[in-house]
Amino acid sequence: MRVLFICLGNICRSPTAEAIARHMAGERGLASRVTFDSAAIENYHPGKAPDRRSQRHARERGYDLSALRARVVTPRDFDEFDLILAMDESHMRRLRSSRPAGARAELALFLDSDSDLVGQEVPDPYYGGEEGFEEVLDLCERALESWFERWAD
Ligand code: 4NP
Repeated sequence: MRVLFICLGNICRSPTAEAIARHMAGERGLASRVTFDSAAIENYHPGKAPDRRSQRHARERGYDLSALRARVVTPRDFDEFDLILAMDESHMRRLRSSRPAGARAELALFLDSDSDLVGQEVPDPYYGGEEGFEEVLDLCERALESWFERWAD
């Protein structure tokens, strides 16, 4: 099972989800069964490490984002991943329209794993305050708990 997290710039939300997912997979002994990557809709920050604010808030909860580097999603990703999870509806629309015909990956909204969060989005923290980065962490932890319940079956 290969899972790709998508956000606009791949420096805040999706690398946060990637690092938490990898951490949780390790804790659950699933690291060999489920693997993770993340990518951007827009090529705004190619090769860049995650936003310093994302790194700092994540580190306070024990997640290390420092080795991750931003990249844009490619047509190949739709065949190399089983599941592509979008942080908001605008990313879903972009993914649906760029998905090659017959591609293997299933697309879903990241928060749809949790019945209380269905249809909701992970808000973009980039232009906001510090609390936005905490909210991203809270939502990622919560949604990933539910995804892991599915992946453990
Ligand atoms: P992300 O946040 O999509 O969660 O990585 C953003 C990062 C960069 C920009 C917007 C959102 N930007 O406009 O550069």
